[in-house]
Amino acid sequence: MSNPVIACDAVKIRFADAGDQLEVLHGINLDVHTGDFVSIVGNSGSGKSTLLHILAGLEQPSEGEVSILGTALSPLNKTQRALLRRQHLGFIYQLHHLLPEFTALENVAMPLMLNGMTRKQACEAAQHWLEKVKVGHRVKHRPSALSGGERQRVAIARALVTNPACVLADEPTGNLDSSTAAQIHELMVDLNESGTSFIVVTHDRLFADMATRRYEMIDGRLESRHG
Ligand SMILES: Nc1ncnc2c1ncn2[C@@H]1O[C@H](COP(=O)(O)OP(=O)(O)O)[C@@H](O)[C@H]1O
Ligand SMILES: [Mg+2]
Repeated sequence: MSNPVIACDAVKIRFADAGDQLEVLHGINLDVHTGDFVSIVGNSGSGKSTLLHILAGLEQPSEGEVSILGTALSPLNKTQRALLRRQHLGFIYQLHHLLPEFTALENVAMPLMLNGMTRKQACEAAQHWLEKVKVGHRVKHRPSALSGGERQRVAIARALVTNPACVLADEPTGNLDSSTAAQIHELMVDLNESGTSFIVVTHDRLFADMATRRYEMIDGRLESRHG
């Protein structure tokens, strides 16, 4: 079998807390394979965002190892980790994190230009993705001129435009009304069916239940959810 897209092996993390060490993740094991749709639910403060940051190499674990497509992160420096992240991962946050002074098209083209693509090619690919997520009519708008749902669609296009192996989403619909959220959920499930792996942290149990692999983070431990 080919390498997992993301492999997380016995990951622990401790933070300094008033002179003490507070362990937030207590030994997380998770392998994500091509085409997986992983959902993680769990109470606020249970460690979900911290885990996503570690999987993305944004935060280093105190113990354990994360590998992306077979490359272990711990021997890499910050620049090497950033390169690996830019090549293979995409991110969607609760708040869109789009750059306010740029249009939707420019926001989506940006990651490709950072990866060295010409502006013309990057804009063509961005246009394609914006059409695919159904905001092709809003490409010249800045984020402030878009609705919440449209902004998240643009953020999804930006996450997918580099053709990442895996998208990590942290409460991507936490800020949307339920019917807009449901449309965005459907979009992510469709994109997963086209081959991109997803790891989604969500409070929405119905959405979490659409995943092919379901987990709950309970006080820094990842438990499988069945049924
Ligand atoms: N850099 C940090 N320093 C100290 N404590 C942190 C840091 N990052 C997260 N924590 C703590 O880790 C716990 C889990 O946080 P988080 O992963 O954001 O939870 P969740 O996303 O599940 O709500 C919280 O108690 C939080 O305060
Ligand atoms: Mg969080």
